[in-house]
Amino acid sequence: MDKFRIKGGRKLNGRVQISGAKNSALPCMAAALLTAESVTLHNVPYVRDIITQGRLLEDLGAQVLRPELRTHKITASNIEIFEAPYELVKTMRASVLALGPLLARFGKAKVSLPGGCAIGSRPIDLHLEALKHLGAQVGLEAGYIVARAPQRGRLQGGEVNFDKVTVTGTENLMMAATLAEGRTVLNNAAREPEVADLAELLNRMGARVRGAGSPQITVEGIESLGGAEHTIIPDRIETGTFLCAAAITNGDLELTSCRPEHSAIVISKLREAGVEIEEVNQSTLRVRCCQGALKARDIVTEPHPRFPTDMQAQYMALMTQAAGTSRITETIFENRFMHASEMQRMGADISISGNTATVTGASVLTGARVQASDLRASASLVLAGLVAEGETVIERVYHIDRGYEKIEAKLNAVGAEIERVRDSVTSQLPPPAEIGVL
Ligand code: UD1
Repeated sequence: MDKFRIKGGRKLNGRVQISGAKNSALPCMAAALLTAESVTLHNVPYVRDIITQGRLLEDLGAQVLRPELRTHKITASNIEIFEAPYELVKTMRASVLALGPLLARFGKAKVSLPGGCAIGSRPIDLHLEALKHLGAQVGLEAGYIVARAPQRGRLQGGEVNFDKVTVTGTENLMMAATLAEGRTVLNNAAREPEVADLAELLNRMGARVRGAGSPQITVEGIESLGGAEHTIIPDRIETGTFLCAAAITNGDLELTSCRPEHSAIVISKLREAGVEIEEVNQSTLRVRCCQGALKARDIVTEPHPRFPTDMQAQYMALMTQAAGTSRITETIFENRFMHASEMQRMGADISISGNTATVTGASVLTGARVQASDLRASASLVLAGLVAEGETVIERVYHIDRGYEKIEAKLNAVGAEIERVRDSVTSQLPPPAEIGVL
């Protein structure tokens, strides 16, 4: 398994280009299953989850072409298999996004239950309950969800009230409803920008989706969808991670190709904490932080537009360098503090009680051997390593490769010193030469 070896203490300075959003590209790729025509997606990040999603689509019978590194042309004219197998779903939960489109277009789908993951139990009961409101019959067979459309093979529009906000649940239902008979209304829908991006693609394919980005989404079902071309929005979590990277190293970075409005809450929290962030233009942010300027500020993770759970770990790394005590409360996932114990090993002062972590800073972090436990936790350990004295070795960086496009290359280009120690057996992403200029 690849490792990162980080020499800490370097200030970051320069320009970083933000990649496309993984969490938007994944549902958009699944949406290609809704039509026999080609769907072309640009600005798709080159990360492992995207490769996994491409494999799933190919296994189902779709053709996935990559005319350019970050462009995918997906043609699902020949779907013969209707199953997302356990082997894939257990490595990437977002493969459940195949459920809605398969059920809507072919009237049947079989998707493995995801089981547990590092950050909690993460059930899909809300997806299934909602699909039942569209007339689907849903059963469980040997660890698989087996879903069928009603007798005439077509889902029926209906009203869905999500008990809890679910991002992929909203996306699954929105996709399913596009081909249902009649109108579907989704209440308490997720408002994440990735949901709105998916709706934009669906509408380009001919769907009639209104209200995406608000808590109520209305979909008028139609008989069939066509092909479309769409550019994926920038990754707001990568943007937030680089904002924290500049701040934690007292650096000065310009982030290009981003969408500041999607990161509004993170920007405002970081400003409160003493970070200078300037909106240079609609797609560029400049972030600076002076030595000793960081102040402790509390956060609570909540669905968009509140503070994202996917930025909680990186914010915790930053707070280890802030003067005072901050409280970080995680309300989305029940077990998402695994990075805290690794940071403690580096010298951070963090105590956990229930779903709240109390961080007292500023601590002098020292390099240590630490383990990445999930995607965003790994990013937080990279941030801690950037500021730690001496050398930090992060093991299991395959987690970070799931969702960050060449994070070490991007950081090294602005002054970091991170070496990837490759394991030739388990490393599956092509070597850097094939990845091209970032
Ligand atoms: C998506 C994101 C992930 C992010 C998360 C929360 C993608 C591919 N992943 O994950 O990066 O951390 O949103 O912003 O977009 N829940 C249920 N039953 C369900 C579905 C969800 O109880 O059927 C619970 C979950 O366990 C969790 C909460 O609802 O506590 C929110 O989860 P959800 O929004 O569904 O997360 P994902 O869509 O899996």
